Amino acid sequence: MGLEIDDVGVVAGGRAILHKVTARIGAGTMVAVIGPNGAGKSTLVKAISGERRPALGRVRLHGDDVSTLAPADLATQRAVLPQATSIAFPFTVFEIVGLGLRQRAGMDAAARRQEVQRALAAVDLEGFGERLYQRLSGGEQQRVQLARVLCQIGKPVKDGRAKLLILDEPTSSLDVRHQIAVLSIARRFADGGGIVVAVLHDLNLAVSFSDRLMVLQRGRLVADGAPEELLEGPMLAETFGTGMVIMKPPGWARPAVLPDLPRILP
Ligand SMILES: Nc1ncnc2c1ncn2[C@@H]1O[C@H](COP(=O)(O)OP(=O)(O)O)[C@@H](O)[C@H]1O
Ligand SMILES: [Mg+2]
Repeated sequence: MGLEIDDVGVVAGGRAILHKVTARIGAGTMVAVIGPNGAGKSTLVKAISGERRPALGRVRLHGDDVSTLAPADLATQRAVLPQATSIAFPFTVFEIVGLGLRQRAGMDAAARRQEVQRALAAVDLEGFGERLYQRLSGGEQQRVQLARVLCQIGKPVKDGRAKLLILDEPTSSLDVRHQIAVLSIARRFADGGGIVVAVLHDLNLAVSFSDRLMVLQRGRLVADGAPEELLEGPMLAETFGTGMVIMKPPGWARPAVLPDLPRILP
């Protein structure tokens, strides 16, 4: 059954900010949501995660409406890395990542500790457990949040049902090596049978890591399909309002895309 998004519309401040978005996303799929600033990407992922109840339409995960599922049930089936997270108290990294395990029953302290260590290792933050979150760099904080989300979600499939991992700009503060490391984690989650919905700004990472691109513009889903298909034609250039060059570097499985700088620069 997977994730079913039906005619979802969101209204905020008296204005429709998302219009009639419909999509089906099956197990084993990684979708990248792309689009200009303010297009409605975060709004869409909040509707998908159950954080924002749509004014119209609905979102179902394996048949259950996400806006009516009990929070504890939802927390075992999907995890969300928000676009921004502010932490007001002096928590350690270990404490923040451990928050991800609140809903996981039947783990003793040693098992929890091991799970947190494993998540920290996955995001290349071994040995950071005792550090204060607020004193870390933006990119380190972002990876701590991802570790928390990985602890919450656990394995990609439970009882034959794909779990849902939602990442809103997970690589925005990361250096290139960590961008690739984080998206590789997401890719493995999908390859393991889960569902990933990731908002991304880097078009090359979106094209290379995802099975499918959903393109939003002014609150509407203007394209939805395989990356190679969407790169053909003028759609991306029109959506982002900037000329693009599409090329196929030798040995690359998928095309690469660059802004057409010589034509753009004065
Ligand atoms: N709670 C809100 N009240 C009013 N306007 C909102 C609210 N949330 C988002 N918006 C507006 O909706 C549009 C889409 O926002 P958002 O989904 O955050 O865009 P994106 O993530 O694609 O950059 C923006 O114009 C934003 O200002
Ligand atoms: Mg956003």
